[in-house]
Amino acid sequence: MSKIFWTGVFFLMSTLFALSKENPTDVITVVTNHLNMVFTVSDKGKVIYHYFGRKLDDYSGFTGRHYANRPDTPDEFASEIYPAYGGRYYTEPALQITHADGLLTTDLVYSKHSSKNIDSNVTETVIELKDKLYPVIINIHLKAYKKENVICQFVSVINDGKKDIQLGRFYSAYLPLQKRSYYLTHFHGTWATEMQMAEEQLLPGIKKIESKKGVKTTQSENPSFLLSVNSPATEDAGEVYAGSLAWSGNYALSFELDEAGILNVLGGMNPFLSEYSLAPNQVFSTPEMVLTYSDSGKGQISRNYHDWARKYAMAHGDRLHPIVLNSWEGAYFSFDENTITGMVDKAAEFGIEMFVLDDGWFGNKHPRNGDNAGLGDWQTNKEKLPRGINYLAEYTHSKGMRFGIWIEPEMVNPKSELAEKHPEWIVKSGKREILTMRNQWLLDLSNPQVQDFIVKTFDDVVALSPYISYIKWDANRHVDNIGSEYLPAGKQTHFWIDYTKGLYSVYERIRAKHPDIMIQLCSSGGGRLDFGALKFHDEYWASDNTSPLDRIFIQYGSNLFFPAIATASHVSTAPNHQTGAITPLKFRFDVAMSGRLGMEMQPKDIKGDEIDFTKEAIKNYKLIRPIVQLGDLYRLVSPYEGSGWASHMYVAKDKKEAVLFAYSLKYHNRTMSFNIKMSGLDPHKKYKIRELNRKYDSVLDNNDTFTGDFLMTAGLNLNVKSLNESAVILLTEI
Ligand code: GLA
Repeated sequence: MSKIFWTGVFFLMSTLFALSKENPTDVITVVTNHLNMVFTVSDKGKVIYHYFGRKLDDYSGFTGRHYANRPDTPDEFASEIYPAYGGRYYTEPALQITHADGLLTTDLVYSKHSSKNIDSNVTETVIELKDKLYPVIINIHLKAYKKENVICQFVSVINDGKKDIQLGRFYSAYLPLQKRSYYLTHFHGTWATEMQMAEEQLLPGIKKIESKKGVKTTQSENPSFLLSVNSPATEDAGEVYAGSLAWSGNYALSFELDEAGILNVLGGMNPFLSEYSLAPNQVFSTPEMVLTYSDSGKGQISRNYHDWARKYAMAHGDRLHPIVLNSWEGAYFSFDENTITGMVDKAAEFGIEMFVLDDGWFGNKHPRNGDNAGLGDWQTNKEKLPRGINYLAEYTHSKGMRFGIWIEPEMVNPKSELAEKHPEWIVKSGKREILTMRNQWLLDLSNPQVQDFIVKTFDDVVALSPYISYIKWDANRHVDNIGSEYLPAGKQTHFWIDYTKGLYSVYERIRAKHPDIMIQLCSSGGGRLDFGALKFHDEYWASDNTSPLDRIFIQYGSNLFFPAIATASHVSTAPNHQTGAITPLKFRFDVAMSGRLGMEMQPKDIKGDEIDFTKEAIKNYKLIRPIVQLGDLYRLVSPYEGSGWASHMYVAKDKKEAVLFAYSLKYHNRTMSFNIKMSGLDPHKKYKIRELNRKYDSVLDNNDTFTGDFLMTAGLNLNVKSLNESAVILLTEI
């Protein structure tokens, strides 16, 4: 036997041993560069959840004695990794199964666990649990992203028996925390006021954040949260846990503070009207809960999410995104070829890189001249655009720009050829009236024929011109009166989950075919803002509200989780179409430039010296774009603070450049200036400052130099003190 053979055998044995540790007293850890989770297996075979937080050098303290968060008979009462309904049940369960014989309880014990490196940065640990008596297997998947300090958890349930079982609850993750106090930050709002932040101390009882809308699920609340413990955290101090559910359907986040002072956090698909039957051998997988933690405040939480999202949870997060002119607010439904080519001409003059033709380009029998007709009929309207989309796309290309187009493929107007042809595809509750919203109905994505139709719609629209390289995907209604003609009577409760899984399967098929195309995620603005959908998109439309005064708040909330590179942020006209706010063009640019800059107006309405200002601002954005889109975000002054100021900055990864944004939201005393202490710079580097988009008298001298230490300790005083005044300052290492 050769030495190579025995070395091979030894290697195989040690790998097998490492992959499948059967010893139930083992400590199971999930580790990133700075965090870890620790679980142990109790004498009774329960997997106990001990710890999630800053990486411990030594976690042996959790073994050898009964270390548990509930002191009496810890073996039975300690928090489990994934509490199923049954046994010593205290709080909201993560899982509930009705077994084939009608039994309602489940008792999960450790079976085995394994861990494998997906690549040098990502490790996936799978902990297998089994019911003591019934044939059901639960796999807890924990994916650790080392560099980004993010851990994603999802669960799969396998029916290992010979008869159907019913799932009543199926959360993605459970997190027990034992602290002195808890402060929840969550995000609420509606159309045009998405992602409004609220922070509250959690008291005994259950605080629930959820959606039962099926579609547009983030229009009232978002499935993302921050949780400061022991005291409210600031940007750079305090312990913060954070979670964001990667799911675009009904969701629920539950925060239950129990009588032991333990906060029981659950996040996952909403069990509301969603009982799911699982056939023998069928696997049911939950969406991922994306978790992170920081012991140095909320700023680090956002930077973890942004790094992770750019790499793993959006399309093309590693390349700069173009500056867009979208036709919606400039033309709405009323345009012809000349309107569009006129917009394209101006956009090219301004230095814009992508033109997007929004709603209104399709439908012939029922032309899309308003929101009451044509949706579903994805053929170019011959009256408005006699030479077709290719003519416009080619024209745009000839001006050195790319071309994009709007679709809303999940929906249909009653007044459309599609609704006439396929009434069976429409979501409806038996013979009840099918309620409209924005004059439209929803297509039943649980039906594979509808999925095929949407994939084909996407293919056909992209095929309208070889110059189409961007799609804006909209979804403008939510689900009410559910019901599917496709699903059998006994499986109507599958609708919510099958709709979203159907949508994801459509996204996957589209992405497999069109990997390079840019896709914008839009749902009446930010109505579908979650990591489940963002994964297939390049960017999201944060809100239909384009007023900078409101966008400062909307983008503050959105950017806590979702990175600036993905935040479409457009300059529109004044008075603002949604709010009536009249703001200077400079202020509108200064706000939009802190995301993925675009414009959304009739560009020929920009006149006089504003033309040069626009060109200059777009040029400046190109200068700062790599810092904004790929750098680290540091929030400096929150608009929620009530000082009437707001400020944040982006710092390049190598800290050689940074860009600061400062805004005044009210009139301050005229003797005041805005003192801003920066963050994230290298204290030892010297930076030259240069004010961009400069319009007002400034106390700053361009080309002045300061050390990073000075800027972060003494700070700069800015002459930004009247309502709608703003400054953008570029810092460059000298
Ligand atoms: C939604 C979107 C808008 C626009 C319109 C078109 O409201 O959020 O940006 O595309 O639809 O109908």
